[in-house]
Amino acid sequence: MTTAASVGTAPTKATSLKKPPRLKGGFPLIGHTIDFARDPVGLLQRAYDECGRVAQFKLAGKNVTLFTGPEAHESLFRLPDEVLSPSEAYKMMIPVFGKGVVYDTTPERMYEQLHMLHPALRNKRMRTYTEIIADETHKIISNWGDEGQIEVCEFFATLTSFTSSRCLLGEEFRNEMSEEFARVYEDLEAGIVPLAYVNAHLPIPAFRRRDRARARLGEMVSTIIERRRRKGIHSEDFTQTLMESTYADGTSLTDHEITGILIAAMFAGHHTSSVTTAWALLELLRAPDYHDKVCTEIRERFSADEGYSFERMRELERTEWAIKEALRIHPPLFMLFRAALEDCEIYGYQVKKGDWVSVSPLVAHRENEVFENALEYDPDRYGPGREEDRRPFAYMSFGGGRHKCLGNAFAILQMKTIFGVLLNNYDFELVGDPLDTDFGRIVLGPKPPINVRYRKRGTSDARVSA
Ligand code: HEM
Repeated sequence: MTTAASVGTAPTKATSLKKPPRLKGGFPLIGHTIDFARDPVGLLQRAYDECGRVAQFKLAGKNVTLFTGPEAHESLFRLPDEVLSPSEAYKMMIPVFGKGVVYDTTPERMYEQLHMLHPALRNKRMRTYTEIIADETHKIISNWGDEGQIEVCEFFATLTSFTSSRCLLGEEFRNEMSEEFARVYEDLEAGIVPLAYVNAHLPIPAFRRRDRARARLGEMVSTIIERRRRKGIHSEDFTQTLMESTYADGTSLTDHEITGILIAAMFAGHHTSSVTTAWALLELLRAPDYHDKVCTEIRERFSADEGYSFERMRELERTEWAIKEALRIHPPLFMLFRAALEDCEIYGYQVKKGDWVSVSPLVAHRENEVFENALEYDPDRYGPGREEDRRPFAYMSFGGGRHKCLGNAFAILQMKTIFGVLLNNYDFELVGDPLDTDFGRIVLGPKPPINVRYRKRGTSDARVSA
């Protein structure tokens, strides 16, 4: 329950507030940076074990206070961007998204820009996306034959890059620019390195390639926009939505802004979905009882040639719980940051101007007080009578408050559709164990290589419905 004292406020008289307990250890200046780089989860867990729901440590010269627990999350996420800024915390993304876009603008402008994506995420569009995703999944398995083996991380990265580029950017990217887009996207991503936190404009090759890639992507998007306008083409994708959007003052987005928002959506949605699909399949394969329930749910619904329609996808309840549970145990964005632009109070604690604060979905999801036997894989926890994700600010994989994920429904739909097609056509089996997390990336996924064997099922396949 939220009390007046626990809801974040600012500014405040810092003297009357508690100071966040500091984690032991660490070196002068760099603090706990080395421990964090070696084993981020170990460090976060130690902070929680030693200090509890509020723990402060030092990373790369910044005081970071980690807040854990639904009430603390709520207190943090209720503060406005003018006090706790995502833009300041994520400013290394500015050269990737572009000047004047998302994190390089005012909080109101950023909100307006991102929320222009809403029409692209309505149910009407979701129907189109379901068909596209089912179609792409069918295409990618069309040459699989009766049996074989895949490396799951690579497989899902490729599949979700096809589905995301088609749904978000458009057919043109998928059909005509696929290879160049993959190269450009890779160069953009390679520019997101820890050094970018220090100075994202240093004259190093990775940043130069990133800037060239951003410029090229802008040209590619402009070519498509110009062609669509000239030929009167109307597509059902995010690009089209942004082409038709206007700010509150009636002005349209520039091509540069459209490109930046599209990149932001791709970055927010592609890897997160790719690694979650991989985790969800792997966790299912390690839980034979639940795996059988999911297969039954999918195969009963799609045994006849009824198609993978959006409406039918909504019926896949157990499949959805399995995805949510994989996301709970393995949240791809394991730390969410904000930078304090003013002294403020969060959950009764003092936060100083210039410090950073964080919520870790990963640490939060390990609390037994919030999730029963939190370390266990148990998708039934979302079922009737339990609904452990219902408590506000408890389930944090998609964040919370004003900046909660805009694409969560799309992401879940995408994963359900992929599983619908895959599990309806093939049986899968994990080759080898145990699984590890790859901490080498900002978006946490399973550590490759992870091989899975597949074998064709004897039953008839369901196809995409019109
Ligand atoms: C499994 C998949 C996904 C996960 C786990 C995920 C997770 C998150 C999280 C945790 C945040 C909040 C970040 C913060 O508060 O600092 C976020 C924000 C966001 N997500 Fe997602 N996301 C996923 C898929 C998607 C997809 C598919 C899209 C787009 C189609 C998307 C678009 C966004 C956008 C635009 C924001 C920024 C919202 C804002 O700042 O106002 N996400 N996501």
